[in-house]
Amino acid sequence: MQGFLIRGGRVLAGSVRVGGAKNAALPLLAATVLAGGVFRFRRVPDIRDVRVMAEILRRLGGEVDYHPAEADRDAELVVDTTHLEHTEIPESLMREMRSSIVLLGPLLARFGRARASYPGGCVIGPRPIDLHLRGLRALGAHIEEGGGYIWARADRLRGADIHLDVPSVGATEQLMMAATLARGRTVVRNAAKEPEISDLQQLLRAMGARVHGAGTDTVVIDGVPRLRPADHEVMPDRIEAGTFLLAGAVTQGEVEVEGVVPEHMSPVLAKLREAGAHIEVAQQRVRLRQGGRPTATNVKTQPYPGFPTDLQNPFLTLMCTAEGTSVIAETIWGNRFKVAEELRRMGADIQTEDRIAIVRGVVELTGAEVQATDDLRGGAALVLAGLGARGETRVLGAGCVDRGYERLAERLQGLGAEIERF
Ligand code: EPU
Repeated sequence: MQGFLIRGGRVLAGSVRVGGAKNAALPLLAATVLAGGVFRFRRVPDIRDVRVMAEILRRLGGEVDYHPAEADRDAELVVDTTHLEHTEIPESLMREMRSSIVLLGPLLARFGRARASYPGGCVIGPRPIDLHLRGLRALGAHIEEGGGYIWARADRLRGADIHLDVPSVGATEQLMMAATLARGRTVVRNAAKEPEISDLQQLLRAMGARVHGAGTDTVVIDGVPRLRPADHEVMPDRIEAGTFLLAGAVTQGEVEVEGVVPEHMSPVLAKLREAGAHIEVAQQRVRLRQGGRPTATNVKTQPYPGFPTDLQNPFLTLMCTAEGTSVIAETIWGNRFKVAEELRRMGADIQTEDRIAIVRGVVELTGAEVQATDDLRGGAALVLAGLGARGETRVLGAGCVDRGYERLAERLQGLGAEIERF
């Protein structure tokens, strides 16, 4: 099994450029299904989940090619949907990446039919899609479920007023995309406000869609008869940026992330400051300096602009060596403390009960062999723990980290970490 070998205790220092956001790139690529033609994307991260989405588009009949950077041009992912015509999302790829469910709405909107398999549960907890399906039904889709499959069809979707029970990121994206080609106006209320939704709105507008309100809790879409392809640069990954800053904090070092939108990171920066980090914000850059042991800090995950669940595990790692006791509450996913068991092997004092973790800070963690489960953020948290720990840590299961972090080991090496892949 692949893994990371880390010799801990190196103080990280330096600057790292952040890539395009995984959680923006995936729905952006799904949106290409809405129009036939050639799309060019810049700043697409080269990570496993993007490769899976590219493979799904190929299996649907699209062409996807990566053009590496040249002297006068940035790297590009070129997606040609001219001959895309299949409407069944392959089950094996759907299983590999549950968020591929967001293809259902675009396929249905453009071709009037789609089939997906049911995403089921996963390591971070159940991944329900009831809000996706209820919303598509409200847009006039006829949906049948059975034997683990979902069949959807509609002649032409029609606009509707939809109120989401919870501000789901995926359901908001799904319904925005489906509604772009519907007849009439769709209003999505209690919509998710994550910056990735604004990034999707920007692409959809460039494609000729009439959408506004992304970033607020009400998104309004006026359907148009057809859309055209467009070019787009993926927004910076605020979760990757937060992970690097936390790596700096865990090693009591000084790390700068560049190419970020600092405003997207304010919920995380607030908590890092509370934990004792010195943070400087400039245009497109954030610098963190952590002078000594962090101060115990309570965190509760919330939809944006609250503290992101995707940085909860890395923050939990930081709290393992804090002075004092912190309480971490996870409100988004039902099972996102699996990493605690592995951190305990490294000497952490964490008690978990349901969606709460109580962390009593210890002076230091010690290296051990630990296993990343299927949650890429848990995997990243273990890498951070290894960087801060005394001695050698082996993190098994590097594959899951590759789902969302591009060349993590090399980039940490660039900051002075002693880490290699095996
Ligand atoms: N929910 C429902 N019904 C639905 C959909 C969601 O009850 O139909 C609930 C979920 O159970 C959860 C909450 O709503 O409790 C939020 O789920 P959401 O739909 O917002 O999550 P998602 O769209 O499936 C995206 C990210 C996740 C991230 C969450 C929350 C992508 C591809 N994934 O998932 O990212 O944790 O939003 O911010 O955008 C990760 O990158 O590690 C990751 C898991």
